[in-house]
Amino acid sequence: MDEVRAQERLVEWFGDVCQDVHGRLAALTDGEPASYIPELANVDPDRFAIATVAVNGQPTLLGDHEHRFTIQSISKLLLYGLALETHGRDQVLRRAGVAPTGDPFNAIELDDALHRAPNPMVNSGAIAITDMVDGDSFEERADVVLALFERYLGHRPDVDDAVCASEYSTGHRNRAIGYLLLDQGIIGDRVEETLDLYFMQCSILITTADLAMIGATIANNGVHPVTGERVVGPKVARDMLTVALTCGMYDYAGEWAYTVGIPAKSGVGGGIVGMIPGVGGIAVFSPRLDEHGNSVRGIRVFEELSQEFDLHVFDADQPWNP
Ligand code: DON
Repeated sequence: MDEVRAQERLVEWFGDVCQDVHGRLAALTDGEPASYIPELANVDPDRFAIATVAVNGQPTLLGDHEHRFTIQSISKLLLYGLALETHGRDQVLRRAGVAPTGDPFNAIELDDALHRAPNPMVNSGAIAITDMVDGDSFEERADVVLALFERYLGHRPDVDDAVCASEYSTGHRNRAIGYLLLDQGIIGDRVEETLDLYFMQCSILITTADLAMIGATIANNGVHPVTGERVVGPKVARDMLTVALTCGMYDYAGEWAYTVGIPAKSGVGGGIVGMIPGVGGIAVFSPRLDEHGNSVRGIRVFEELSQEFDLHVFDADQPWNP
């Protein structure tokens, strides 16, 4: 009984701290929303939400948690899980390794020795992984991607068509990466279709609450905390968590692993999702980004929560796992 009460106190304390952090960090206005994709600049930069979902499904929701924004690069983590689930590790590792690059997300680089993309969280790896989505047409493959999201969200997501069109018309660097992957025999010749799919997956609309549910599912060994559905197998969830910890925050990944220590993935839409294995998911949305493309407030929220609650995966005294 005492243990139950202690757990309840911890949840209350967590809610209070999240509220305090949300209140204080709303005053932080450093950074700028992404503008390299013109449509992304049309966001309200002051939006700010924090959402958490525990592995038992219990949510904590603060601020603009119902506001929808584009998932962007966070989709790379989900598509990676899908590829592992559908094709197995060996096939996936032939296309993308697991080495952090320390370079920007859109760097045009391959692992020349092993003839593959460095990892699935940078654009070259993500496009190589998106190419693995099965189907005979764009429509069939888009359906596979949307069905994947449906299993995580409990509903089929919408796509922001304006953002998608903007990605398409300005995505020349991604096109260069796609054709380099084709030249190197890493992907097949339906490059334009695969790029369309990549632009679409980045333009999927989610809320911060959705994002926390995605995080909680991965943190719960791949089982959705509310529906009980197995979305990915436990070994796939483990691989997703590992790559998130080592490569999920781009060229900030090393500092992030050191200071925050929570497997996480960010997107230039302003979202960050973190996964605390066996405990739950944390999501933050705030569109002002730093020079790496990570949400400025998002980084601060994770730093503060990690410190306050010993959430670093290597912390000896995790209060949530007595
Ligand atoms: O490839 C792109 O440019 C975007 N659609 C995705 C980028 C992204 O979110 C990288 N971010 N941090």
